[in-house]
Amino acid sequence: MNLILMGLPGAGKGTQAEKIKEKYNIPHISTGDMFRLAIKEGTDLGLKAKGFMDQGELVPDEVTIGIVKERLSKADCENGFLLDGFPRTIAQAEALQELLTELNRKINYVLHVDVPEEKLVERLTGRRICPTCGTTYHVVYNPPKVEGVCDKDGSTLIQREDDQPETVKKRLSVNIKQTKPLLDFYQDKGYLVTVDGDRDIDEVFQDIQAILEK
Ligand code: AP5
Ligand code: ZN
Repeated sequence: MNLILMGLPGAGKGTQAEKIKEKYNIPHISTGDMFRLAIKEGTDLGLKAKGFMDQGELVPDEVTIGIVKERLSKADCENGFLLDGFPRTIAQAEALQELLTELNRKINYVLHVDVPEEKLVERLTGRRICPTCGTTYHVVYNPPKVEGVCDKDGSTLIQREDDQPETVKKRLSVNIKQTKPLLDFYQDKGYLVTVDGDRDIDEVFQDIQAILEK
């Protein structure tokens, strides 16, 4: 199964991706996670991406397209993949089409997790992540058993650098502008399915399963 998860920052892409990956056993490819790892490791890619991410801007297309091409060409993607946060521009979507044609693959679904804009700021500013295992929590909607501590490994949870209120506003405005043309692009191709993301995490996942198992 070749899937794309779309949605504004905070819509729940990462949260649903973890569940999809576990249930359907396909690699979860998040460009945001790839950039954050590169920043942590201090690689060239990290240096290129950091300034843009800290400002809430998109990383330039040529950098982003390059890492996705490399990743999708790996053996573990042969039986499917789940792209999260890519494509985010029409240039990225076109580059992906080209690559998939070369690889003789097709997208099955573009799942658009739709959440009203006004809910997103609260989701993002309340997000906490585990620096060790990457699990995502929310102080209200998905809290850990012990406040501030990862359920899985006991690490102290942290806030993502780009989840500060000012950067959140910028990320939302940048992404809102980019999203509509992309939704139209995939609607025209017949891949787009919209999921109501403004519900409980498990209810959203049930809808996604119903689509994938149709
Ligand atoms: P990226 O890491 O992709 O961030 P994003 O798109 O801003 O999305 P988020 O990870 O913030 O949100 P999410 O939808 O995954 O929500 P989550 O599940 O965590 O990108 C970061 C940056 O990298 C970009 O700004 C850009 O600079 C760069 N970048 C990445 N890809 C790029 C590309 N293709 N091109 C150029 N630049 C790129 O959930 C959010 C919170 O809500 C959590 O706390 C969660 O617990 C909670 N929550 C989840 N679901 C629910 C629910 N149903 N109800 C209540 N709470 C919920
Ligand atoms: Zn953890």
